Amino acid sequence: MAVMKALGSEGVRVMMESALTARDRVGVQDFVLLENHTSEAAFIENLRKRFKENLIYTYIGSVLVSVNPYKELEIYTKQHMERYRGVNFYEVSPHIYAVSDNAYRSMRTERRDQCILISGESGAGKTEASKKILQYYAVTCPASEQVQTVKDRLLQSNPVLEAFGNAKTLRNDNSSRFGKYMDIQFDFRGAPVGGHILNYLLEKSRVVHQNHGERNFHIFYQLIEGGEEDLLRRLGLERNTQQYQYLVKGNCPKVSSINDRNDWKAVRKALSVIGFNDDEVEELLNIIASVLHLGNVQFGAEESGNAYITTDTQIKYLARLLGVEGSILKEALTHKKIIAKGEELMSPLNSEQAASARDALSKAVYGRTFTWLVNKINLSLAYKDDLYPLSKNASVIGLLDIYGFEVFQQNSFEQFCINYCNEKLQQLFIELTLKSEQEEYESEGITWEPVQFFNNKIICDLVEEKFKGIISILDEECLRPGDASDLTFLEKLENTVGGHAHFVTHKLADGKTRKVMGREEFRLLHYAGEVNYNVNGFLDKNNDLLFRNLKEIMCQSENKILTQCFDREELTDKKRPETTATQFKNSLAKLMEILMSKEPSYIRCIKPNDAKQAGRFDEVLIRHQVKYLGLMENLRVRRAGFAYRRRYEVFLQRYKSLCPDTWPNWKGRLADGVSTLVKHLGYKPEEYKLGRSKIFIRFPKTLFATEDALEVRKHSLATKLQACWRGYSQKSKYLKMRHSAILIQAWWRGILALREAKRRRTAADTIRRFIKGFIYRKQPRCPENEYFLDYVRYSFLMNLWRNLPKTVLDKSWPTPPPALTEASEQLRNLCMQNMVWTYCKRISPERKHQLEQKLVASEIFKDKKDNYPQSVPKLFASTRLNGEEISPKVLQALGNEKMKYAVSVTKYDRKGYRARPRQLLLTASCAVIVEDSKLKQRIDYSALKGISVSSLSDGLFVLHVPCEDNKQKGDVVLQSDHVIETLTKVAICADKINNVNISQGSIKFTVGRGKEGVIDFTPGSELLVTKAKNGHLSVTAPRLNSR
Ligand SMILES: Nc1ncnc2c1ncn2[C@@H]1O[C@H](COP(=O)(O)OP(=O)(O)OP(=O)(O)O)[C@@H](O)[C@H]1O
Ligand SMILES: [Mg+2]
Repeated sequence: MAVMKALGSEGVRVMMESALTARDRVGVQDFVLLENHTSEAAFIENLRKRFKENLIYTYIGSVLVSVNPYKELEIYTKQHMERYRGVNFYEVSPHIYAVSDNAYRSMRTERRDQCILISGESGAGKTEASKKILQYYAVTCPASEQVQTVKDRLLQSNPVLEAFGNAKTLRNDNSSRFGKYMDIQFDFRGAPVGGHILNYLLEKSRVVHQNHGERNFHIFYQLIEGGEEDLLRRLGLERNTQQYQYLVKGNCPKVSSINDRNDWKAVRKALSVIGFNDDEVEELLNIIASVLHLGNVQFGAEESGNAYITTDTQIKYLARLLGVEGSILKEALTHKKIIAKGEELMSPLNSEQAASARDALSKAVYGRTFTWLVNKINLSLAYKDDLYPLSKNASVIGLLDIYGFEVFQQNSFEQFCINYCNEKLQQLFIELTLKSEQEEYESEGITWEPVQFFNNKIICDLVEEKFKGIISILDEECLRPGDASDLTFLEKLENTVGGHAHFVTHKLADGKTRKVMGREEFRLLHYAGEVNYNVNGFLDKNNDLLFRNLKEIMCQSENKILTQCFDREELTDKKRPETTATQFKNSLAKLMEILMSKEPSYIRCIKPNDAKQAGRFDEVLIRHQVKYLGLMENLRVRRAGFAYRRRYEVFLQRYKSLCPDTWPNWKGRLADGVSTLVKHLGYKPEEYKLGRSKIFIRFPKTLFATEDALEVRKHSLATKLQACWRGYSQKSKYLKMRHSAILIQAWWRGILALREAKRRRTAADTIRRFIKGFIYRKQPRCPENEYFLDYVRYSFLMNLWRNLPKTVLDKSWPTPPPALTEASEQLRNLCMQNMVWTYCKRISPERKHQLEQKLVASEIFKDKKDNYPQSVPKLFASTRLNGEEISPKVLQALGNEKMKYAVSVTKYDRKGYRARPRQLLLTASCAVIVEDSKLKQRIDYSALKGISVSSLSDGLFVLHVPCEDNKQKGDVVLQSDHVIETLTKVAICADKINNVNISQGSIKFTVGRGKEGVIDFTPGSELLVTKAKNGHLSVTAPRLNSR
């Protein structure tokens, strides 16, 4: 095809096909391709060829025909799933995964809910097919952590429901004894996010009775075989199925294909995945165990015929497991409560009645628990949309796996319901594939040769028609006062529908038929075959009666599941409950509505033999099924018809982008638009037809090629859209940012301006206050000047703080405002004290001593002697002569007296004033004059009268001693280069501070007894010491400007 080639899809397909092995192409993969499509033999031959090669799947158009292989095939691996994922189903060999994927993709692309209808007789593989579909979705759909939980729960709901609702029958070792319709909900990403199950009519009678070769529901055997020892002990059960009356009726304890112990483990695991806690499991098992105990309750008959219970231990277990009072249970099992004229009466039952009351209780308990279980699973599968809790945006794929058509030796009410259900499904199939399709061609004006098929509506009507149908007659018989029985029901049937072409009874039958029919049977000629139904039990099963007192006791149960199953309101509700058949009829009608609202896919299951054997192809059995499933008619309609149809507007809307004339919009008539479009796509005339409002496309591959083209086109459109969108989004992002920036700027400028205005206002206020304060500054403190005054104080203190004097000598201090004069003075004192204190703390003892001496010097000489200022910065030495410079003899002569100071001096003779070098030594008690190593003179301080010195800059001084002292030879005239230091030391040592006399002009001194010498001091240019002509010692000392 042109489009295909252009896109290279051909290449893809060739690759796909080459991936298929030649084996896959045995026979034809689609019956539509059969040469002789009207031949049933060719049809069956094709089935057989493929079956022999283990190719169990074949299409009739889009309907999948599946033959049960009765063996595990290697065609359900992950690789197989991947191969079918996202691939058009005609491109790969037929498979259930292709149908699953097709439904999934239709749901995603067309946003239409889908349903997959699986039909076929019991054992044909419906349940297996539904499981395969579920697994396919679980593996291939997008996942997340949350979705994984949902997937697990969806998958694990199967083993639980099968344990409680499936059983071994003669037809199937794992026969579904309930109908199941399951919705899988997908979110907008296509991930499974939830599910919901609708269950239909469980075959409750199996709880109390099984036909020969059949078993009760699996769970009973699983519990007994697999249950842990202490669990069984708690439940009062023995590990022996033969002990239980309800499990021995079919005489079929073991089935080779079933491993109850392993299944038990799987069920326990599944229960916890679904969300059952240990308590709930325990309560559930209590119920299962109590059903087994109920079955073992036996009755004896008193002489009066009244029943009594012979098995008291069972009652004990039952009371505990059901959480009821044993004595009340006992009474309820053997009596019937009658309400007559508002009074309650207990009427005793005979042993037969008691046994059927017991069985009714078992069936009710089991049946209701099963419904509870489905509800519980539904709760755990419920879709909770966290993102959009109020939206209902989940798309749905429904899976219908319901009990298949079945025929036994003895068929009862249950088979009647099951086969009626299959009749309805066949009707739906006919409606949707055969009938409506042909009607549509007619109404669309497509030339068409009608295909004849058997419409089973006539049988459906026979069963369900109001007033005239079998169900109505059965209900009427159930409700009618008087002694209605199963036989009167049969009679009534004969009278009412006796003439119907699909109804026969023993009485109405011809001789041949009569031979194979019992008197209590009626025969229905179903679409799938003839079935004889035994009317025995029809009325009871339809009434589904449970005595009031048994209902009451169940309402009182302490078992939480039972209290949910048995509602107290039921006891007070006066309305008669709907009969079982009517309930079933109504629920099927609802199911049909659900299915009609969705787009269906079909899987038609075929059972190859009755022996459940692999590789056995029983032609008679298969021909029968091909016939009643209407597969030949289906094929004929397919061959003549069109695989695909769509309303013009839908078709155009979807594919308009593939043709320049229709893109982006077609302005003319829709039909013309579609015609232009398909011509552009290169459709050949035989590939399609245009009807009144729809286009009909004959082959799926034509449509798939168009889909492929759309896929490619979508990519280029998406790229274009992406580019536009990116441009647009970048631009709007930029504009938004720009706008935001401008906004921020404006705001910021506003803020700045506000701040500036505020600052100015504050400044003006401050200035104003300042000026006002200045004007009023002299006034006492008042509001006008307080700011100013405070400010002045503050600024004075701050200024002071910044400029505090750093040393004691720094006398600077800011001028305080008048108000702070006193405070300033105090602060100044404090500051000074502080500095002094700090200074004193830092001073060393040596320095202290030095300063004390300097202080003494200052007291003596300050402002009195010219060379004093020069001495101030020079430190006083502790001594001017060290030990070596003083003669040891002298030191020896001084003995113990410690030397305090020694200095070289010049001594002037008293007479001639000759200058002689001497040493002056000071000890604690005397001053000593030393000549070389001779101690020349010792002046005790006590004898020292005073010291004289000139006010000039010379170094002469006189030590006055009393002239009376013979030892002395008169006052001593000395000269020291360090006169200030020397005299200070002498004054301190001799304690003569106040005896230092500083003379202005001359100094007199005694020279021996009575004689006096004079030293004249005159200022001059340089130091000169001479003997004057007048006999005085004349000293000229340079004048220093320091004083
Ligand atoms: N695809 C398959 N591969 C292998 N074995 C299969 C397959 N389909 C069915 N079987 C076998 O056939 C048995 C019966 O199939 P299944 O239980 O699906 O039948 P059914 O149509 O659901 O019957 P019923 O109406 O009684 O429930 C399965 O237990 C299994 O052993
Ligand atoms: Mg089944």
